[in-house]
Amino acid sequence: MILTSASAAITKAPNVKKTFYLTTPIFYPNAKLHLGHVYTMTLADALARAHKLADENVYFLAGSDENTQKMVDAATKAGSEPIAFLDGIVQNFMTLYSSLNISYDQFIRTTDTKIHWPGAQAMWNKIFASGDLYKKEYTGLYCVGHEAFMTEKDLVDGKCPDHGTIPEHLSEENYFFRLSKYANAICQKIESDELLVVPQSRKKEILTFIKGGLEDISFSRPRKASWPKGLGVPVPGDDLQVMYVWCDALANYITALGFGRDDSLYKEFWPADVHIIGKDILRFHAVIWPAMLLSAGLPLPKSIFVHGFITSGGKKMSKTLGNIIDPEELIEKYGADAVRYFLLRHISPYEDGDITREGFHNAYTAHLTNGLGNLVARVMKLAEMYLKEGPAHLVDRDSYIHASNIHINENIGKFEFNRALDEIWNRIQELDESITKREPFKLVKENPEEGKAVISDMATQLYGIGLVLEPFMPETSRKIQEAVRANKKPENLFPRL
Ligand code: MSP
Repeated sequence: MILTSASAAITKAPNVKKTFYLTTPIFYPNAKLHLGHVYTMTLADALARAHKLADENVYFLAGSDENTQKMVDAATKAGSEPIAFLDGIVQNFMTLYSSLNISYDQFIRTTDTKIHWPGAQAMWNKIFASGDLYKKEYTGLYCVGHEAFMTEKDLVDGKCPDHGTIPEHLSEENYFFRLSKYANAICQKIESDELLVVPQSRKKEILTFIKGGLEDISFSRPRKASWPKGLGVPVPGDDLQVMYVWCDALANYITALGFGRDDSLYKEFWPADVHIIGKDILRFHAVIWPAMLLSAGLPLPKSIFVHGFITSGGKKMSKTLGNIIDPEELIEKYGADAVRYFLLRHISPYEDGDITREGFHNAYTAHLTNGLGNLVARVMKLAEMYLKEGPAHLVDRDSYIHASNIHINENIGKFEFNRALDEIWNRIQELDESITKREPFKLVKENPEEGKAVISDMATQLYGIGLVLEPFMPETSRKIQEAVRANKKPENLFPRL
């Protein structure tokens, strides 16, 4: 079991496998994904793999948030039918995930009428049955870019600061959700860590926000005549209304498990162990979603991990600034594991982090080409030359993962992947230094038995490094393990570019 709080103890998985359910934000499929989205998915994948390695029964959810005006606008601009447009973009998401080795178990799409809609409607019915939904005329400023109503306070010079557009004045009849009713209950759950919000700074931020008072929120919208069929989950019993974001998008975390349809996965995996999100959607996940679950009488997720944002050259990535870094381009040039390595080690998961092409290239050369890649070549060249069949004893994978890697696991439990990788890179450096110090290439000529024993020990240590790299750099991990087992120097892992 991997730690989910700093104080829990590390134990070997019991006979019945512990389940571990982690989710990621369902991204808007109105454009290609950028490095920020890839960052979330890479953190999630490292976490999922670490828990699988600890022999847990992991379920890892990905998906797309499709019932949006933004997507309809993007489709129209591209001259496509919305559903065909969505299929194309979702295919892009999946291709990107596969090129990064993202090991998700399910991809949920909110236009899926068979999988998603029955669950979202079942959730609505439960909230309705609690008396927490009421109809009201709503007038407000609506930003299409955010798919959200905004207040005057949110605007800069009358415009949305994020999209630079003037919000529309909208007046319409909506269902409202009694969010205000749940403020105290949510505060108590977060304060007591029953709903753990990591890091602490985000926990404080959200508590301050809730204590400032919560207002009821719009939960449905009138169905637009212009909306294509198959878009927007119908409100049960009210054909004129479609669900507005919350009960549609947030419900994905349970509809994917068959809630309201066939709930065997739901019974097995809910409540989620972790919702991984970026800091921009903290309020939705730490306030609205728990309130919906409380209203519906369902258990709350155990934790929410909130990561920072990626900037490029200190600025938000944008077309106008020309600082957008395309993940596909990086993967093609440097390989998936190099991208995963950079995001996991060189961006601090609790704060915003910066990436530039130059910084990426330098980290690649220093830590992968000259660091890990060079070490693998050094050790495996000696092993291939002087050992007949590789090291005599390879470490026992399971006990090694469970017992000798407490620091790595502790850091993963706190979502501090960068520290976990620092620890692994210390081992890489130590092994490198011991080759320089012990000079096995000389020793093996002077005293063959002793020299071979030293080389065998080094290959064993390299194998251990290969094992613990699995959650972070799965291909590299596999190549190292295969090389040691086959006692053969592999092709250059990280060619000099
Ligand atoms: N559809 C909603 C989420 C609903 S979840 C039930 C949404 N989609 S989004 O496409 O805008 O994605 C937002 C998420 O993308 C962030 O929470 C974060 O995971 C990721 N990121 C987007 N830009 C980012 C950065 N620049 N840096 C890091 N992550 C960022 O909001």
